[in-house]
Amino acid sequence: MKKIIARTLNDMYEIILSNGALHHVGEIAGSVIKGKKAFIVTDKNVAALYLNDVTTSFQNAGMTINTHIIQPGEENKNHNELWSLYQCFHQFGLTRSDAVVALGGGVIGDLTGLAAATYLRGIPLISIPTTLLAQVDSSIGGKTAINMPFGKNMIGCFYQPSVVITDPKVLTSLPRSVMNDGVAEVIKYGCIRDIDLFNHLMSGRMDLEWILERCIRIKTAIVENDEFDKGERMLLNFGHTIGHALEKCGDYRRLTHGQAVSIGMLVSAMLGEKQALTSEGTAKRIRDCLLSHDLPVEVPFSADQILEIVQSDKKNFSNTIHFIFLRNIGEAFIHRMAIGDLKHRLKEVMAHV
Ligand code: GLY
Repeated sequence: MKKIIARTLNDMYEIILSNGALHHVGEIAGSVIKGKKAFIVTDKNVAALYLNDVTTSFQNAGMTINTHIIQPGEENKNHNELWSLYQCFHQFGLTRSDAVVALGGGVIGDLTGLAAATYLRGIPLISIPTTLLAQVDSSIGGKTAINMPFGKNMIGCFYQPSVVITDPKVLTSLPRSVMNDGVAEVIKYGCIRDIDLFNHLMSGRMDLEWILERCIRIKTAIVENDEFDKGERMLLNFGHTIGHALEKCGDYRRLTHGQAVSIGMLVSAMLGEKQALTSEGTAKRIRDCLLSHDLPVEVPFSADQILEIVQSDKKNFSNTIHFIFLRNIGEAFIHRMAIGDLKHRLKEVMAHV
């Protein structure tokens, strides 16, 4: 069992990485919370696979359990589900000594995290991520959110979990497409911080436990330095400015998050090379890596469609944007760019994708 410590401004928590950890969540939770109740939030797909094991583990640790199961999908990360959770917590008599458990992927983590952060001004949160994307990214660092009709992740806050329990074994049950979504984020970590990780992915090997530990350590180090996303943490957005715009262009149905980030990373590397910010050949290496993991590299929308959305992005200040570029594979930096400049360069680059 590996324990990776994440230090926050006022506290710390452990990320436990262990095959089979899912069967020990009760005893792990018991060591970080005082109360005897845990409310598990999950989705239908995850419930069918793991809810029994998780419930049994909590019960064996002497805890009383209640559960709320939502439909899978990003469209359910909304205020109606958040409201339902508050009502369920109240009916169950949850107190600040008890725990809320997020058992699932990014949607479950974001929604449950926000509910835990706001109910009674904060109930301890136990995170059990079950997708690669959630294990390497969204379960670490305390971002919570729901979507609104006017945008993704528009309501949320930073709220750190009490513990993250990561079981690599659960990834074996993931459909290939969901796994690949996470692989896009793993490639991102290689691109921004870790050339060895990038080379490992290029070599066709997939040593999952090694990959998970590398990614978790990178994410932990970045969010420890910048818990509230004001500087270094923005590096995690490599490929995401274009990626989020692509997701929205396709109404969140045409491209998954990982597919959109995949295209976004390639376009960002090409933009960097065009401006001599990124060393030549970087975009080709990224393209080869993405293709070897069945990730898309073609842009299915026009530069104008993408830019319209980039312009309305919540991270866009006074017509300039913090854009993440690579110097080389493994080395990223933040570059402030005028939207007008981005427009002109994106059109140039997209003529060659
Ligand atoms: N997923 C990016 C972040 O946590 O900042």
